[in-house]
Amino acid sequence: MVNPTMSANLSQVIVKRRGSVILGPIELTLARQGITIVLGPNGAGKTTLLKVLHGVERISSGSVDWSVPDELARQSQAFIFQKPTMLRRSVRENLAYPLQLLDYKKAEIAERVALWAHRIDLGDMLDRSAPRLSGGEQQKLALARALIRDPDVLFLDEPCANLDARSTREIEKLLVDAQSSGTRIIMTTHNIGQARRLANDVLFLLNGKLHEQGAAMTFFKEPKTPEAKSFLEGDIVE
Ligand SMILES: Nc1ncnc2c1ncn2[C@@H]1O[C@H](COP(=O)(O)OP(=O)(O)O)[C@@H](O)[C@H]1O
Ligand SMILES: [Mg+2]
Repeated sequence: MVNPTMSANLSQVIVKRRGSVILGPIELTLARQGITIVLGPNGAGKTTLLKVLHGVERISSGSVDWSVPDELARQSQAFIFQKPTMLRRSVRENLAYPLQLLDYKKAEIAERVALWAHRIDLGDMLDRSAPRLSGGEQQKLALARALIRDPDVLFLDEPCANLDARSTREIEKLLVDAQSSGTRIIMTTHNIGQARRLANDVLFLLNGKLHEQGAAMTFFKEPKTPEAKSFLEGDIVE
């Protein structure tokens, strides 16, 4: 179910851990459409920001408002980690599971599972044990398992960090297709080439703060801050 009114508003969000601020204060309005890429050096707060947006990180102050009630927002979102987590069952069962939770009818589950297995090129491996798949296959399966229920919003935290070029390319295609069919995507990556290929807009984090943000074209061509410029040139930024 695609919900075109799915936007988020963060106001004065601060996350503190052990007495120090690890994120914020953040002011941010996320547009309703597109692929947002979150960039920044290690420790900048990228993962924390994604978790705050998904509602699974405790905030110390401020507010996070989706255009729908929190519980509904979380249900219509999915989160993909760097390291895919599989059920210790077959590819088929991994794909069917989220639909069973939503009480889909058996015939529709079978149809969707076949379609998605084909889309991720695992159509011949439906009975394989998911944990035995390669890293790239597992990440594609994790992505298909998220997309099979048409989430409104998909978060991905460095989803291609450990993958070969082919799996990375396949995953990028799945993301572009999902975006075209209305899924809002918010993703972190260390791969600047990938960011350039996918981003509609960019959030550049530094030391827990939103240091620069804007349309991807502008950000990559003419970053406003010297720190973003250095980051894009591959320098160490602190
Ligand atoms: N549970 C925690 N307790 C204390 N510090 C944390 C915790 N989680 C993250 N941090 C710190 O918060 C900062 C931001 O972390 P993170 O969001 O993981 O950054 P990134 O994803 O950009 O590498 C880092 O300095 C990290 O060490
Ligand atoms: Mg991280």
